[in-house]
Amino acid sequence: MENREWWKESVVYQVYPKSFQDSDGDGIGDIQGIIQRLDYLKELGVDVVWICPIYKSPMDDGGYDIADYYTIDNMFGTNKDFDALLEKAKMLGMKVLMDLVVNHTSDEHAWFQEALRDPESKYRDYYVFSEGIDGQPPNNWRTYFGESAWESVPNEDNMYYLHAFTKKQPDLNWENQEMREEIYQMINYWLDKGLGGFRIDAILNIKKRIEKGFFEPDGEDGLVFIGHWILNQPGIEVWLKEMNDRTFQPHNSMTVAEANVPSERLKEYIGSQGFFSMVFDFSYTDIDVPSTGEWFKFSGWTWELMKKHIFTNQLVTQENGWGALYLENHDQPRSIDKYIPASDINDYSKKMLATLFMLLRGTPFIYQGQELGMTNIQMDSMEEYDDIATHDQYSRAILSGFSPEEALAAMNRRSRDNSRTPMQWNTSKNSGFSQAEKTWMKVNPNYHMINAEAELVKADSVFHYYRQLILLRRDSRYQDTLVYGEFIPMNEQEDGTIIYQRVLDGKKVLVAINYTNQTQSTEILTEFDQYLLGNYDQPYQVGAKLSLRPYESVVLANF
Ligand code: GLC
Repeated sequence: MENREWWKESVVYQVYPKSFQDSDGDGIGDIQGIIQRLDYLKELGVDVVWICPIYKSPMDDGGYDIADYYTIDNMFGTNKDFDALLEKAKMLGMKVLMDLVVNHTSDEHAWFQEALRDPESKYRDYYVFSEGIDGQPPNNWRTYFGESAWESVPNEDNMYYLHAFTKKQPDLNWENQEMREEIYQMINYWLDKGLGGFRIDAILNIKKRIEKGFFEPDGEDGLVFIGHWILNQPGIEVWLKEMNDRTFQPHNSMTVAEANVPSERLKEYIGSQGFFSMVFDFSYTDIDVPSTGEWFKFSGWTWELMKKHIFTNQLVTQENGWGALYLENHDQPRSIDKYIPASDINDYSKKMLATLFMLLRGTPFIYQGQELGMTNIQMDSMEEYDDIATHDQYSRAILSGFSPEEALAAMNRRSRDNSRTPMQWNTSKNSGFSQAEKTWMKVNPNYHMINAEAELVKADSVFHYYRQLILLRRDSRYQDTLVYGEFIPMNEQEDGTIIYQRVLDGKKVLVAINYTNQTQSTEILTEFDQYLLGNYDQPYQVGAKLSLRPYESVVLANF
């Protein structure tokens, strides 16, 4: 068996702090709110909580624009509140992960302010400044969000700074060793407090291959995607190793990097000596996004492709190291709306998705509200959207000929705000999220139907199904098989179902799901004579032909 690690046996819960629980009535979630809800997470059974950025920030990009790495933003509370959170989590046997955003800072960070104030200061080289060409930016790169990646420096002629995301997120220059040292020191500051580790943001962008000039555009805007020059560039491995050696490794931390790594390099990243514990793969969560990243257009994906991506990713990851499993996060719409046709959204299909992803090989990440089966929100106008990327995509949709109605429909389908609406706790005001008159983001009106309180008392709710899946992973009889067991794809050529086995030392678990609204029959697998879990109350008959009802999922064993 491969090495045991605490983070392989964990189940992670992602908290989007602005929308989790407001404790002081300002309409915005906060750390004390998270503390109040830790018991709920304990009941669900998760043992690691990842909290999206809570550092001091002007919130241009939901906190991924950090103005001070050492201070908790007062919108969320104080550093003391955070210490209290760590303490309570520890008492409950849970670990906390923070977000690590070190590809860029906010333009309001003291380093950047100093770099602007004094071009001679050492902080100038902490960022990427460049002269323009004939009054134009140094090149025609487009950011991840849609604009030119160069912003002109105020009060300086022909001078620009680089930003891969919004113009309020200047990119850091990792070539500068002193800057790197400051970053490592900051990481160790948080780890020394007892933090379990980090989710690491946009880390594959830190090495830049700066080239000036005009490159062939790949869009109507005359720009070309910056990723070709800043994604996973040669030499990046030196800094990733340095960072790991100096920070995570000595702390035995859990790290999960937001990083689509090509399979031939995966071992370097997630092998036993890798830079990270695991990485997030995008292939099946971004399955509806065309390769250009223009998510207002629809990729036209199919479940057959989804199955192929899942199987490929599982096999490649298994060969090279450890993986992270997820269906949702703060950058994705709700999974149920993405993967299931509107007319088929119900508890069966929600539980089917849960079964499919929670028992694959890797560490599962549940995004807040996913365990309740929360759904996308319908917005009536663009003013209701907060997310900067949504506004960018809307403009690009209009530019490429969408009518305003079509563009809004695309935002309703894919906006990141779909998952950023307040957590639905109960049927009281603002779904129990906040006492404020107005919350920072609209509450999904379906909270009367979908909320934690209702699901906690209903034995067959989606919440309890997630709980059972976690319990199954923890059950001493099955844990080793479900955590460390080999992943073996089954019935690969068969449409309508996804079937796989997890096998360790001759002990086998079979997971079978039907992703359609029709009954699917598949080969008889008589060796699986134990029924562990399923999403229909009348369970599958052990030993009978494996016939799966619409969106049925079953977990069987042969021990
Ligand atoms: C990551 C985050 C996303 C953010 C971006 C820029 O992709 O998940 O929310 O907008 O990085 O920091």
